[in-house]
Amino acid sequence: MALAFQRPVGRPATASRPASRRAPALRIVSAAATAPAPSPSSSASSVPASKLIDGKGIADTIRSEIAAEVAQLKAKHNLTPGLAVVLVGARKDSETYVRSKKKACAEVGFDSYGTDLPADVSEEELLKVVAAYNADPRVHGILVQLPLPKHISEKRILDAISIEKDVDGFHPLNIGALAMRGRDPLFVPCTPKGCIELLERLKVPISGRTACVIGRSNIVGMPAALLLQRRDATVTMVHSKTPDAAKICGEADIVIAACGVAEMVKGDWIKPGAVVIDVGINAKDDPTAKKGYRLVGDVDFEAAGARASLITPVPGGVGPMTIAMLLQNTLESARRAAKH
Ligand code: GUN
Repeated sequence: MALAFQRPVGRPATASRPASRRAPALRIVSAAATAPAPSPSSSASSVPASKLIDGKGIADTIRSEIAAEVAQLKAKHNLTPGLAVVLVGARKDSETYVRSKKKACAEVGFDSYGTDLPADVSEEELLKVVAAYNADPRVHGILVQLPLPKHISEKRILDAISIEKDVDGFHPLNIGALAMRGRDPLFVPCTPKGCIELLERLKVPISGRTACVIGRSNIVGMPAALLLQRRDATVTMVHSKTPDAAKICGEADIVIAACGVAEMVKGDWIKPGAVVIDVGINAKDDPTAKKGYRLVGDVDFEAAGARASLITPVPGGVGPMTIAMLLQNTLESARRAAKH
């Protein structure tokens, strides 16, 4: 089967798509959302601005740092970092995220390569696409947007991505290294890496503190817990089968919520003074909103914000950091390639 779409682009490949294929307003959203976010402007919020973690602002700073480094790489080594993004099917949320990733690449001076495949593409065809990007020296990072259609084995696809180009950090060898003391993965998954980057840039102490990670997904919860543990936090993971999650969460200095359930984490789950990182992004019906819905996180923002010392808003918190970390991973990969 011919590739539906494969080319290097100076600007996002999706820019040339017919309007009918472009995603309408975000309606389906996932826990590890990477959609660009408007700045948190909930004027009705009672959470003081001093408690808000400005993920968008921090991500913008990181993106400027990356753009400056890209310019240097080009000047000194004649090397342009390249990211290949593979999209299977036409899920509106995935299309939105992929478009954002390609746009971000163009903005920092990366080359982006895109392959859009129909939802019924065979696993073998997808593996061929991955193999071609593995072999392409212009490509330093490969990202296959998840979730994949049910007939495709996510495991087989992720295993096939070269660990040197696994900028998502989802390859079992990278996750395995993350889990082991004395080993360092080549890449760390972007959303949890972004959560830790927020904590570190805000100088939130992690070592010796208690942390609660809500949700145990491969993409966010599990690697977030490993990253906190590597920084010497005492980490508890809670999930759908945990009795008394509220009590466990209530003992944590740092909370990372990534359960994918709108506003599941209530105000009284939060220890006074805790730092709350909300990875969730969920559409909640709101007849007063222009679009009929608004975006909320996995945390009840108003109630939790009353007790927390710092809290990420949704949108404008973790989402922009995910893309910034993807760019950072891709830049790191290109730097490694320059050394070879
Ligand atoms: N789907 C939701 N989040 C992600 C992500 O970070 N990477 C990929 N590849 N797919 C996703």
